[in-house]
Amino acid sequence: MLLHRSTWPEIEQFLQRSRSIVIPIGSNEQHGPIGLLGTDWMCPEIIANEAQKEADILIGPTFNIGMAQHHLGFAGTISLRPSTFMAAIGDWVRSLAGHGFEKILFLNGHGGNIASIEAAFSELYAEASFAGRPAGFALKLCNWWDLEGVGALANQQFPTGHGMHATPSEIAVTQWAYSDSIKSADYHPQIAPSGPIREALDFRARFPDGRMGSDPAQATPEKGGALVRLAAQSLVKELGAFSRETSPR
Ligand code: NI
Repeated sequence: MLLHRSTWPEIEQFLQRSRSIVIPIGSNEQHGPIGLLGTDWMCPEIIANEAQKEADILIGPTFNIGMAQHHLGFAGTISLRPSTFMAAIGDWVRSLAGHGFEKILFLNGHGGNIASIEAAFSELYAEASFAGRPAGFALKLCNWWDLEGVGALANQQFPTGHGMHATPSEIAVTQWAYSDSIKSADYHPQIAPSGPIREALDFRARFPDGRMGSDPAQATPEKGGALVRLAAQSLVKELGAFSRETSPR
């Protein structure tokens, strides 16, 4: 079930049978010569959409702009600074918790979001801790590539040249979902260099075509489809386990 394609009475009804929701969260940023700018928000959205076809789970609208300051040297990247991103996550959670959602799982598609999402969770829990009251909700961050079995499958599909950014696995997922937007390019070198992530000018100088350690030419829609199906199944399991968690209080 998709929240944005439901009505408020339908969400009220859903809350009678479940207090859990999945929010796909990502980033709109350069993904090398063939990766779509939306890759990092599309991947979790594609997986979550697939998961809700098989199970009675609720998927919220995609939080599609993340913390991508290091990619701002490439056209089309849109970034929130960490403080803005955290403030927005806070208001999403307060809105959902106010309706009665108790388990909020953020399905993330961008490594650069992780620190800020975790810090946003700490800010939200701190509000309850300082007030000496229960939060009333629990928050969980799941990176889609960490869902059960997904890393192993990606390693099998791409034993070399997977890399850290503009990876063949994430590009394969978008190729499966958006087969009319598949691009190609020549790579020099075939596998991109690796290195640290700092500010945008430094990033562009280190990684001139935007890739980090990856060879996206290995991506195919078929490999993407296998990743999506496995990730969707694992998401349903992960959300089930999170939903069944009880508070010791
Ligand atoms: Ni990415």
